[in-house]
Amino acid sequence: MVKSNTLDPFSLHKEDVDTFISNSDNYIIRKGGDMKGFFQESADPDKLIYEVYEIRGPHSTDMGLTIMKPGKVGKEFHMTKGHFHESKSADEYYFCLSGKGMIIMQSEDDEIRHMPLNEGGGVYVPSGWAHRTINVGDEDFILLAIFPKDAGHDYGAIEDKGFRSIVMEVDGQPQVIDNPSF
Ligand SMILES: [Fe+2]
Repeated sequence: MVKSNTLDPFSLHKEDVDTFISNSDNYIIRKGGDMKGFFQESADPDKLIYEVYEIRGPHSTDMGLTIMKPGKVGKEFHMTKGHFHESKSADEYYFCLSGKGMIIMQSEDDEIRHMPLNEGGGVYVPSGWAHRTINVGDEDFILLAIFPKDAGHDYGAIEDKGFRSIVMEVDGQPQVIDNPSF
């Protein structure tokens, strides 16, 4: 769906999240019950893990605002499902507006990278790399993503296989460890 006109200019700091939400065209909510098989332990089906608001831009890019609740499922920190893009040429930029988190990326050859993603920071996700974000803080983790309109989301590959690494609380601290289920 392409808008027929342009969007008005808008600012996006953590204080402006409501402006983004009021311009959004699409809303996705993920509770524990929507994420069966993603965490090592089963999550309370009613527990809110994250929400995504999308703005379909009028031209070449779309934007996503992800708000992730703090918390864990067992000892595993709240995370997004993670996805590959259906388009092999679609890369993406992520910026953290608020909170404390991480991003894990995995290539089609299962090469793995993890990076911190904290307020004021951002990361580049190259095309061909699956990506998942994780809230390791004790407040909402709010992210802005910008991606090409034709990116598409492929969740199935991650649902089947998972990521090689997961983020667990170990001795009170977030740690990236090997995924025993991979
Ligand atoms: Fe993406």
